[in-house]
Amino acid sequence: MNKSFNADLVRADFPLLDQEVNGHPLVYLDNAATTQKPRAVIQALEHYYQMDNSNVHRGAHAVADRATRAFEAARASVAKFINAARVEEVIWTRGTTESINLVAQTFGRMVLQENDVILVPVSEHHANIVPWQMVAQAQGAKIIPIPLTEGCDIDLVAFDDLLSRHRVKIVAVNQVSNALGTINPVADITAKAKAAGAAVLIDGAQGVAHSLVDVQALGADFYVFSGHKLCGPTGIGVLWGKKELLDAMPPYQGGGEMIETVSFDGTTYNQVPFKFEAGTPNIAGAIGLAAAVEYLEAVGLEAAVVHEKELMRYLLDSLSGLANVQRIGSPQQSVGIFSFLVPGTHPSDIGMLLDQQGIAIRTGHHCTQPLMQYLNVPGTARASLSFYNNKSDIDAFVQALDKACGLLV
Ligand SMILES: Cc1ncc(COP(=O)(O)O)c(C=O)c1O
Repeated sequence: MNKSFNADLVRADFPLLDQEVNGHPLVYLDNAATTQKPRAVIQALEHYYQMDNSNVHRGAHAVADRATRAFEAARASVAKFINAARVEEVIWTRGTTESINLVAQTFGRMVLQENDVILVPVSEHHANIVPWQMVAQAQGAKIIPIPLTEGCDIDLVAFDDLLSRHRVKIVAVNQVSNALGTINPVADITAKAKAAGAAVLIDGAQGVAHSLVDVQALGADFYVFSGHKLCGPTGIGVLWGKKELLDAMPPYQGGGEMIETVSFDGTTYNQVPFKFEAGTPNIAGAIGLAAAVEYLEAVGLEAAVVHEKELMRYLLDSLSGLANVQRIGSPQQSVGIFSFLVPGTHPSDIGMLLDQQGIAIRTGHHCTQPLMQYLNVPGTARASLSFYNNKSDIDAFVQALDKACGLLV
């Protein structure tokens, strides 16, 4: 196992993991849905509400000043974490979903005209499909799915073909598939899309927790993610965009904070990032997310990713003895997400039998209904790992799954 990473010490940072569920030690394998929070994040939230709670940017007192400084320092921490060229390129949102809606309704409306095309792989999360459908409908544009190969990788030959045959204005692609774990070649896809004159949004909801993200190296125009999948709080997320694009885009919502001057004759807007942050923001959430990225930097995300890869290999090896378990999708590169079916059984029955043994996984369509239709499956069962999981978790999962198969098949 990875020598520089102490999995036991790291695991002890996550108090929620230390509990029993249905009479068994909890084995949390639902990390693609949301990750658990380390003590450092819980304490940052507690400290903010106990000591620094105030509204930001407009207070004339010491506590408001502290809250504002912590809030803006959080933006700087996140900007550094994703290697943004400028702090003001980090816009706070509620999460990935809101970030994509923001880009669709501002940038999308600005650039899309009748018969323009948005390309989105079949394997996307609904959050990276529906907002584009909405803006396409409003602008008379079209959304075309990019097919997958046999192994469920994005079909790059088909992608090239679509780029050459259509007036593609936007390509929106996830860095890592939440349903199958596929690591998509987003830098390649971005380079091809840019060469064809399209703008690129990368959905980093899953990718951000499984790689060191460098938004400048990726070369896309927008990168979006949620705090809660990165050991941070729910209700906070990030839209990173290139400054010149953010400057050119109209605001998303109107209200306080996003304005420069208001009169009944007209309103002028604040500069980025504030132009996109109408109303009182999620101050505690931003501070909690900064605590999460600082925690991950201290643990060493690179070492954490290596540990998770080793665990995934151990899981695949351990499952090879269970003839009834069928992996769905066999991507060339994947993170610690294992989507599977046990033929002749329903995924929700597997989920229930595992829950009875203290194992938390997810079952269903994983907000990827077009992918499930494409694969012709009703849904899957999904075990998703994080760096705080260990070999005992995998052993417990495999044993419980074996037992469930014995009962159902
Ligand atoms: C790939 C992907 N995109 C988007 C989302 C939506 O994230 P949120 O619900 O935090 O906005 C998720 C959540 O599961 C996801 O996995």
